Amino acid sequence: MDIILFGPPGAGKGTQAKRLVELLGIPQISTGDLMRAEAKSGSPLGEELQRYMSRGELAPDSLTIEVFKARLGQEDAKGGAIFDGFPRTTAQAEALEALLAELGRRVDKVVVIDVPDSEILGRITGRRSDPATGQVYHITYNPPPPGVEVVQRKDDTEEVVAHRLATYKAQTEPVLAYYDKKGVVVRVDGVGSLDEVTERIKAALGV
Ligand code: AP5
Repeated sequence: MDIILFGPPGAGKGTQAKRLVELLGIPQISTGDLMRAEAKSGSPLGEELQRYMSRGELAPDSLTIEVFKARLGQEDAKGGAIFDGFPRTTAQAEALEALLAELGRRVDKVVVIDVPDSEILGRITGRRSDPATGQVYHITYNPPPPGVEVVQRKDDTEEVVAHRLATYKAQTEPVLAYYDKKGVVVRVDGVGSLDEVTERIKAALGV
């Protein structure tokens, strides 16, 4: 099964993807996580990617597709994957279709997690993660257990969030039209407890 989790920054794509990994036994492929790992490595590619992320702008399609393709080709993604934060442009959607077609696969469902703009800022500025495990928390809605040292993402500031949201509306939301034509889009309400949202996604996927 190949599933796209789609939605604005802070919708809960990463949080829900990790839950689906356990449920479906397929990996999460997050281009944001892949780019942050590349940036952390200090490579020239990572430095370039970091510049886009810091501004809340999309990285160029060519670089993004290269990073994504390398991950899709790994052994654990042979039986399907959960795509988190990819595709974000129509060019990326077309590249994904071609890459999956080579493998005899296609996007089975696009799950849009709907969250109003008014919720997004609080979710993102309150996000923290454990650098050791990658586990994502929220200082109010999903606090880290006592003793766990957490960090904040560099692009989770108020100014960058506003720009990420504008980028989403201008460049990413229009990609839904591409998938609407294929009849694979399902929408779930992303407001509620983490468990409630997981149940809605499971119902939408029929799993
Ligand atoms: P990326 O890392 O993909 O960031 P994003 O899309 O902005 O999404 P987020 O990770 O911010 O949010 P999320 O939906 O995963 O929410 P989460 O589960 O963490 O991309 C970062 C940057 O990389 C981009 O700006 C761009 O520069 C670059 N990039 C990445 N992919 C690219 C691509 N394809 N093309 C070009 N450039 C690309 O939840 C957020 C918070 O809310 C957490 O604290 C969580 O605990 C909390 N939360 C989750 N669910 C709930 C709930 N139901 N109720 C209350 N709180 C909740």
